[in-house]
Amino acid sequence: MFDNFFFVGLPYIAILLFVLGLAYRTLTGFKTFYRGKPAWGAWGDFLWTTRSTGFFGRATIGPAALCLHWGLIVLIVAHLIGFIGGAANWGGWVSFFRWTGMFGGVLALYGACWAFVRRLLSAQLRAMSTLEDYIVLLFLIVTLALGLYHSIVQFVWGVSYPVGRWLVSLFTLQPDASWVATIPLTMKLHIIIAFTFLAYFPFTKLVHAFSYPLAYITRPYISMRRYVGVKK
Ligand code: HEM
Repeated sequence: MFDNFFFVGLPYIAILLFVLGLAYRTLTGFKTFYRGKPAWGAWGDFLWTTRSTGFFGRATIGPAALCLHWGLIVLIVAHLIGFIGGAANWGGWVSFFRWTGMFGGVLALYGACWAFVRRLLSAQLRAMSTLEDYIVLLFLIVTLALGLYHSIVQFVWGVSYPVGRWLVSLFTLQPDASWVATIPLTMKLHIIIAFTFLAYFPFTKLVHAFSYPLAYITRPYISMRRYVGVKK
């Protein structure tokens, strides 16, 4: 029951919300409803932006932002390789995930923690931050910390084998939660939080990940202020 909810229901709901939410957000300017009307296309969505904070002390965020982004890119590739290797029983690919994932995870955790601390320390940043800015960073920090705790502190490895097979069962529409029934609790939490994050993703500033590099030149306007109270 518990496993079926978190490892069959949740992943499907999260993937649906991710895909449909992104499509909806791309087709409608639903976040801002420009001058009271939904605009058809991301052009109307003034919050399709990172709400960049670089102008408040670029030097303090520069290295951390690089670590966060490159760390996440390395992690995405490493997870994919690990899951394919796990499903196909290719030990080399799973080991690649172990060490590359550890490297990417440490980089990303450093970047995310620094971005979070900087937001708390700087008065200007606190003033311009929304709840979403903090929630997104907390999601990243908790997911990264659980992944790294599992691999560096608990020093368990090889969970990609059952997880790879479980993911295949999901994508072939023959979901079988029994593959992950006995994996460590830390990994269960890691996966549950990651899928919850995936469901939340399209409704946050993280959609900017889909702007670069193809749509960068024609990307929507960037708004640096709140629209609350702007005269219609
Ligand atoms: C649905 C999405 C995800 C799944 C199914 C998943 C699953 C896993 C698995 C199975 C492992 C390796 C455990 C092992 O083989 O022993 C792992 C490790 C890890 N994951 Fe994830 N993960 C997901 C999303 C994420 C996200 C979004 C992040 C980062 C924000 C992340 C960060 C990490 C880190 C840092 C490690 C440790 C890597 C290492 O030390 O080698 N994962 N994850």
